[in-house]
Amino acid sequence: MGKLLCTLFFFFFLTVVCSVASATEEPPASGFLISETAAKKPAREKLTHMRFYWHDVISGASPTAVRVAAAATSNKSATGFGAVVMFDDPMTARPELTSTLVGRAQGFYAFASKEEFALLLSMNLAFVEGKYNGSTITVLGRNAVLSGVRELPVVGGSGLFRLARGYVQAKTYSLDAKTGDTVVEYNVFVVHY
Ligand SMILES: *[C@@H]1O[C@H](CO)[C@@H](O)[C@H](O)[C@H]1NC(C)=O
Ligand SMILES: *[C@@H]1O[C@H](CO)[C@@H](O)[C@H](O)[C@H]1NC(C)=O
Repeated sequence: MGKLLCTLFFFFFLTVVCSVASATEEPPASGFLISETAAKKPAREKLTHMRFYWHDVISGASPTAVRVAAAATSNKSATGFGAVVMFDDPMTARPELTSTLVGRAQGFYAFASKEEFALLLSMNLAFVEGKYNGSTITVLGRNAVLSGVRELPVVGGSGLFRLARGYVQAKTYSLDAKTGDTVVEYNVFVVHY
């Protein structure tokens, strides 16, 4: 009788040990860890609207936008088709470059149309001011620069803009015909948590 109880207890003990061991998530030796959890009811999303000015400085000793590539035919194209410009453009609170720096727009634009001045614009808006310092918004879209207001999609974000979606509206504020330097007013509408 005592021997039977002892055996039963041993199996019970073994079952407990085994179930505890299987509860800890160890990836299989040949795979990777996947864990799916039903999302909790999300916190309320909010819509944030920001306005700032984007300075594309191509002239002078320290340009913030530089041409890094082009097709052999780009200079012959009336629309610059095939050229690529990399930029690290300051974003300021007011149209003046000397106003408060709110962040930097970092990315590239490529002259993507043979018919008109239409860019493929790909950039991260890296904020440095206030509570958004360290957070980013990623924009990817078509920018027909001679049109009045251009709309481009916000495809994501990080930090306070995690899981962001939305759009930006870009409107040329000033264009220096001599230097080519441009100031663009940006209105960003982004939904995030
Ligand atoms: C094409 O134009 C760019 C910018 O105006 C200039 O820097 C470059 O030297 C030109 N290239 C050729 C091959 O003419
Ligand atoms: C933004 O964050 C960086 C890094 O944490 C910090 O060095 C900087 O002072 C902050 N800027 C502002 C304006 O708060």
